[in-house]
Amino acid sequence: MVASSTATTSDENWSPDSWRSRPALQQPRYLDEMRLAQVGQRLRELPPLVTSGEILELKWAIAEAQEGRRFLLHGGDCAESFIDCTNEIIVNRLKVLFQMGLILAHGLKQPVIRLGRFAGQYAKPRSSDIESRDGVTLPCYRGDIVNGLDFDPISREADPERMFQAHAFSSLTLNFTRALVEGGFGDLRRPEFWRLDWIDQSPSAVEYRRAVDEIADSLRFMQTLGGHIVEDRLHGGFYTSHEGLLLHYEEALTRAVPHRGGWYNLSTHFPWLGMRTSALEGAHVEYFRGLSNPIGVKIGPTLQPDDLLRLIDRLNPSDEPGRLTLITRMGRNHIEQALPPILRAVSNAGRRVLWVVDPMHGNTETTQNGYKTRRFEKIRDELDLAFCIHASEGTRLGGVHLEMTGEDVTECLGGARSLDETDLGRAYKTTVDPRLNYEQAMELSMLIASANRATRPSASLDERKNLSLAGAL
Ligand code: PEP
Ligand code: CO
Repeated sequence: MVASSTATTSDENWSPDSWRSRPALQQPRYLDEMRLAQVGQRLRELPPLVTSGEILELKWAIAEAQEGRRFLLHGGDCAESFIDCTNEIIVNRLKVLFQMGLILAHGLKQPVIRLGRFAGQYAKPRSSDIESRDGVTLPCYRGDIVNGLDFDPISREADPERMFQAHAFSSLTLNFTRALVEGGFGDLRRPEFWRLDWIDQSPSAVEYRRAVDEIADSLRFMQTLGGHIVEDRLHGGFYTSHEGLLLHYEEALTRAVPHRGGWYNLSTHFPWLGMRTSALEGAHVEYFRGLSNPIGVKIGPTLQPDDLLRLIDRLNPSDEPGRLTLITRMGRNHIEQALPPILRAVSNAGRRVLWVVDPMHGNTETTQNGYKTRRFEKIRDELDLAFCIHASEGTRLGGVHLEMTGEDVTECLGGARSLDETDLGRAYKTTVDPRLNYEQAMELSMLIASANRATRPSASLDERKNLSLAGAL
């Protein structure tokens, strides 16, 4: 069932370091180049984190999703931090991802590919290279793989040694995650242990309680058939991802796999290209084009359809199934103008992609008291509109991309508990972007599961609009 073909986009002009001759945006300036080279050399010798077999399995699953037979749930932290590599945080993060996966699989009636934004999500693109506070200016924080968050000159200096720590913390995270997944993950399979008090605050409480009861029944039934092995067959697997941003690190973890042919980034199953680094002639596109991994590309509201088609040609010239996932992050206020021309251009060109919506990154705002936040209602509306627009354009929305955590943080506004601006200070912990907390993430997956009933091909557009997410509230 797993694709054995290894069609790649690499050619003899490509190598893991061919990006070095192109302009590389969003890279730190390392003062000690000799040490940087030594770190790169040692990283090249260290064991990888994932295998090419797993990567091809994910590519096959994404190809299935492109055909409408699976749904992709892509979620996790905006930025992982070394200090958050703890037992509790890893367990809670995986739990919320898997619980959401069950809700979606139940509502969508198809397997859900669970793709974590973790075990390597340590590098961040920033809107400015510097940060000033009280007359002092320092380099910006670029994620724990590059420098420290503390606002002092030593912590903010880019340190190549941090790449070793990132590799080590990624492997600790992945090792424990794999053990949890393979061990069946205890109370995950028993919705009576899920934290669902928030449901009673929701206008859709009755519908949500019914969905949870049905999930509990089917899980009990599956246990009688053979425990988690049966359930895992019904699910779409578990994989890791991170933004492929820090090219020195990505290059060092890119390995030739002789028995398959081609080059694989073995630090993750699924690297993605961020919106700020997807210039056609830039270093990141050069690096990504030679990989055999399935890859994601973030698409913002200013990308022109023709430029997107050129990018698709560069990244997937042979239209290989499963290779390309396009993650649109337009924002509630832009999606209606920006998404349809992009969908039409790709459909008219007959290109094969998986469409995913990221309703987080186009909806970030700063409150009067200085918190970077996102409103649950805007996130929900962008999702809702994305489902409707895809349905009316005849394309399929095959996944969602969310920033979320299993913790009780207060970073996004709204949701069933109606968090407001005064709540934000209570548990605002993110180092970069605001994440949905456990309850908000669960609520959103209930909304997606019920919205999808509205986007079945048999439903008319009017029916779909009536049953859309906003209508479900
Ligand atoms: C992110 O996913 O955290 C991110 C920075 O996204 P984008 O590239 O879409 O801005
Ligand atoms: Co983010």
